[in-house]
Amino acid sequence: MKKINIGKSTFELEKGEPLSNLYDYDTDIPFQCLRGRCGRCLVKKNYGNLGEITQNETKLLKRLGFSPGEYRLLCQCTLEENSKVNTI
Ligand code: FES
Repeated sequence: MKKINIGKSTFELEKGEPLSNLYDYDTDIPFQCLRGRCGRCLVKKNYGNLGEITQNETKLLKRLGFSPGEYRLLCQCTLEENSKVNTI
């Protein structure tokens, strides 16, 4: 199991599990499309490994004016290591 800290909450998921699975939990993340299209799940990465960033995610982050890698779309991430993100 790996842990992800989002603001004041911590969740445990399997290593490699998609973070879109947090949709079913009580998080501060306002998930909407779950497909990397709306940008509602934008977070700032603090530390950890949230998986490879895709071209699609990079494109939307740039369009929204955020630096890919420093910022992530949580619905496009997987939990590879214990990680911490901040809500925007
Ligand atoms: S929920 Fe729409 S981009 Fe993540």
